[in-house]
Amino acid sequence: PQTPAVSNEPINEYRPGSEETLALQHTMDKMSAEQVDIPCYIGGSEVRTGQTEAVVMPHDHQHVLGQAHMGSSTELNQAADAAIKAQYDWAALPWQSRAAVFLKAADLIAGPYRNQINAATMHGQSKNCFQAEIDSACELIDFLRFNACFYQQIMEQQPVSSPGVWNQLDWRPLEGFVMAITPFNFTAIAGNLPATPAMLGNTVVWKPSGTQMLSAYVIMQVFKAAGLPDGVINMVAADGPVAGAALLPRAELAGVHFTGSTPTFQHIFAEVGGNIGRYRSYPRLVGETGGKDFVFAHESADAGAVATALARGAFEYQGQKCSAASRAYIPSALWPAVQEQLVEDVKSFKMGSTRDFSNFINAVIDERSFDKIKGYIDHAASANDAEIIVGGGCDKSKGYFVEPTVIVTSNPAFKTMQEEIFGPVLTIYVYDEADFEDTLDLCDQGSVYALTGAIFAQDRYMVNHMSDRLRNAAGNFYINDKPTGAVVGQQPFGGGRASGTNDKAGSALNLYRWLSPRTIKETF
Ligand code: SER
Repeated sequence: PQTPAVSNEPINEYRPGSEETLALQHTMDKMSAEQVDIPCYIGGSEVRTGQTEAVVMPHDHQHVLGQAHMGSSTELNQAADAAIKAQYDWAALPWQSRAAVFLKAADLIAGPYRNQINAATMHGQSKNCFQAEIDSACELIDFLRFNACFYQQIMEQQPVSSPGVWNQLDWRPLEGFVMAITPFNFTAIAGNLPATPAMLGNTVVWKPSGTQMLSAYVIMQVFKAAGLPDGVINMVAADGPVAGAALLPRAELAGVHFTGSTPTFQHIFAEVGGNIGRYRSYPRLVGETGGKDFVFAHESADAGAVATALARGAFEYQGQKCSAASRAYIPSALWPAVQEQLVEDVKSFKMGSTRDFSNFINAVIDERSFDKIKGYIDHAASANDAEIIVGGGCDKSKGYFVEPTVIVTSNPAFKTMQEEIFGPVLTIYVYDEADFEDTLDLCDQGSVYALTGAIFAQDRYMVNHMSDRLRNAAGNFYINDKPTGAVVGQQPFGGGRASGTNDKAGSALNLYRWLSPRTIKETF
């Protein structure tokens, strides 16, 4: 049986005054007036621990949207027990039945839940309507639908047989439970990290980010409405260290599906390594972590295209994408034209609440993040070898607002050229054309990360040369385009070095990590 034909979900444009805009705004207004009480979900039951954390709007931090119940080691262990209990029946279903649950979830998000999930992402994570639409609606729908197709392709992969011998691959899930740990910045990732292993027959304990609880709650409602059986995905909000200490040492840990910071993933690796004698099987560790993503222009590049890529690649969603452009290498001859357009574009960006759809820039996620980003901006403002050419303003009185900021430095090893900031800060190094080859080396070796990167050149020989020289510098490499916005099924996503295990979300490659095939040989 073929899975339904799939193509990427079309993007709603939310034009001013349109029916879809009014409907989304209506949902937002309703949601911001409610006080939602978000439980943990364990074995299909809603569990309210009474230990709650407020859910607030980053762009209006006195506006409380509700509260989320936090789990302790007790609830986390109960969730793991519930996952283990549910595993046999879930894995015993025909694969089509599991895929059907998630295909239905995709249809629910595409239809009746679209406004709700977008509104939750806009209120709770401070995304503008376009950024919410491409994430919490389109990308999440695409993950769920494309995964079903990838699953079918995998099931069809079978070894050769010979007369009298029938060989088969039994595409089993892993034995034990999978832990999904998800970030605040993409609702799609929050949904996909538990959903992918679950579709393949695994059962999951999902720990969402504390600053993404509103959309996490909508995702759980969608999964339930789609008919996901009890115990298959158990959601427990918890402090990271508490969750790690409770679940990483358990003998039944089958894998960790992680997106988040590099230090946290390294901690998980070390914990699993330290506990390695305890496990029934070697846990699969799949992580997508930090980035310090580059834009590198050659003198043959189109200056306008470079400026547009920098403005959008660095500042969409306030730069809070692991793929965001955050360091750039621009040849001196091209710089005046790039600078002029870039500064003009950045000045044109309106900043404010997500409720006003004309705002391009909203708030950064929380106070900790605001303070960290401001620290980098202050460092640049007082440095001798750097200059802020646009932006630099920060104000957390009402919301966590940081102006889109461009720093130009004469030092390619300047702090903001090397460290991940996760905010709207772009640093540019203007190089002398005579130093082109050395600057390529600087770009390759200039950070520990290797997630995304973009080159700009119109000279075809240069495109190939730069692509070759920067071969290991990015897992997602863009030629004459911004380094963000990978599309499921089109640009499988992930990077190497300190950026992760490169298990390519949005492709079949990721699915293989959640399967442990059994080879069966039968003789007649
Ligand atoms: N997939 C996102 C992008 O490409 C980042 O997670 O921007």
